[in-house]
Amino acid sequence: MTFELRHFLQFKDITREELDYLFERTRRIKKRFKSYQRYWPLQDRTLVMIFEKASTRTRLSFEAGMHQLGGAAIYLNTKDSQLGRGEPVEDAAQVISRMSDIVMIRTYEQEILERFAGHSRVPVINGLTNQFHPCQILADIYTYIDHRGSIQGKTVAWIGDSNNVCQTWLQAAQVLDFKVQVSTPPGYEVDAAIAGNLDSKHFAHFADPHEAARGADLVTTDVWTSMGFEAENEKRHHAFSDWQVDEAMMRGARDDALFMHCLPAHRGEEVAAGVIDGPQSVVWDEAENRLHTQKALMEFLLMGVIDD
Ligand code: CP
Ligand code: NVA
Repeated sequence: MTFELRHFLQFKDITREELDYLFERTRRIKKRFKSYQRYWPLQDRTLVMIFEKASTRTRLSFEAGMHQLGGAAIYLNTKDSQLGRGEPVEDAAQVISRMSDIVMIRTYEQEILERFAGHSRVPVINGLTNQFHPCQILADIYTYIDHRGSIQGKTVAWIGDSNNVCQTWLQAAQVLDFKVQVSTPPGYEVDAAIAGNLDSKHFAHFADPHEAARGADLVTTDVWTSMGFEAENEKRHHAFSDWQVDEAMMRGARDDALFMHCLPAHRGEEVAAGVIDGPQSVVWDEAENRLHTQKALMEFLLMGVIDD
């Protein structure tokens, strides 16, 4: 039997119908896990995780997730492997994918990930690049659905940097048909060439962050300085000081609006403590759901659609 090799490099690599399946699958896998039922469909399978940047949640959720599905996970980082000493990414892909069943990579440029996938015999998952963080948005949307039902037709407010997480939200809006209202400081606007085909049904830009949050069903943000951009930290702190999600901003959103943050967060910078630690925040569910959604994702990439 031949099995189609699929990767998850960008959010749009998975169709809306497949996402519906993945969210339903996530619900089942999560329920099983919560009731301590053993589920080992990936017994004898090996996940290799390659990290060129730091991580807590992504490493933990993939490693624990693979273990819980009966498989094994191997952690590699640039510092301790030949990747850090200039081995071509194409060669690394050939070798790593002959010794494993699935690979997750966290790196800098999306192009590195694409080159790896182009030479891999096994599915490759984007664990964050400078451009996208699709596993995060998979978990975020599952979390939204879990709390509020379908996200179709809803409004998400993105406040702050037009970074990898923001760009992935914009892709997801096209695939799942909701709207993202983005407010970024001048000079940090969304790059349409990266985010994709931005039509007015799914994307709107606001100069004023409070306007972007007005009437939103979900308000979300992220750090002002992402990994790899540390040299810009001081400049960014000045530019972003008015782009904090605070209680006043949340009052402008719908009464039942949720607050999300991919974490790690900086209280007092992109989010006020009263918001992230307040009643509308679902950040801990959001973090936990990385585990469940990625288990469904790995199962899907390795086994296709299953019915049990
Ligand atoms: N949200 C997220 O990806 O967290 P880590 O950087 O800890 O993996
Ligand atoms: N935008 C952040 C997300 C961290 C999970 C970064 O890239 O550093």
